[in-house]
Amino acid sequence: MSLPIIVVGAGGHAAVVVDALLEAGAKVLGFTDPDLHLHGTQRIGLPVLGSDDEVLGQFAPDRVSLANGLGFVNGSGQRSLRAVVQLRLEARGWQFVSVIHPLAHVSSRAKLGASCQILAGAHVQAGASVGTGTIVNTGAIVEHDSIVGHWCHLATRSTLCGHCRVGDGSLVGAGAVLRQGVAIGKNTVVGAGAVLVRDSAGEETLCGVPARPLGTK
Ligand SMILES: CC(C)(COP(=O)(O)OP(=O)(O)OC[C@H]1O[C@@H](n2cnc3c(N)ncnc32)[C@H](O)[C@@H]1OP(=O)(O)O)[C@@H](O)C(=O)NCCC(=O)NCCS
Repeated sequence: MSLPIIVVGAGGHAAVVVDALLEAGAKVLGFTDPDLHLHGTQRIGLPVLGSDDEVLGQFAPDRVSLANGLGFVNGSGQRSLRAVVQLRLEARGWQFVSVIHPLAHVSSRAKLGASCQILAGAHVQAGASVGTGTIVNTGAIVEHDSIVGHWCHLATRSTLCGHCRVGDGSLVGAGAVLRQGVAIGKNTVVGAGAVLVRDSAGEETLCGVPARPLGTK
């Protein structure tokens, strides 16, 4: 039987994660959060139980699983708070679950890495793969044969057309589109609404239609 789940973080992304877990039939005990003002309050009907250390000190890792409620904050990839917090807790023996909303479509011919999150209305198509800790957010599309690295965030309604590549730690902003076959390197930030028609080596921010590095016309 599946273990009950505590969600790490109590912000906006955490609410969406809890909703997906509850819709999928999981038992969620509540949230952790470092903000003392939130402790003892309710968030979408569930308690903010305390800080990570306070709350997890009351449980054993074989009795409770965790879900990552942190979105894309404070940097990207393995440097993001989202990855740093999860990797620290995993090193202490905690297991993070994958979160798949029942209204997401994941092809049986796609591959999902550990603890990824595929949220409501998202599609991961045949031959695609999604790396560890990556978020495919509400309504995002990973088309056929696209490969998404670890600790990425494909924001709401973003689209990877077929055969795209997204390097580790990249953010593809809300509504952005990667034309078929486009490859971006690690830690790329694609601004909301951008359309990428060329590859990027990574470690840069691209905006606009067609997308160019931020700060260039
Ligand atoms: C691209 C992005 C990372 C830039 O953020 P930032 O570094 O804080 O940039 P600023 O807001 O200071 O804007 C800097 C300039 O870029 C422009 N700009 C910012 N975002 C842009 C975008 N998505 N498309 C086009 N231009 C954009 C601004 O108008 C501004 O132009 P100016 O210098 O001529 O006034 C951010 O705007 C963005 O799009 N993030 C993605 C957000 C998202 O999709 N979240 C999803 C959560 S599910």
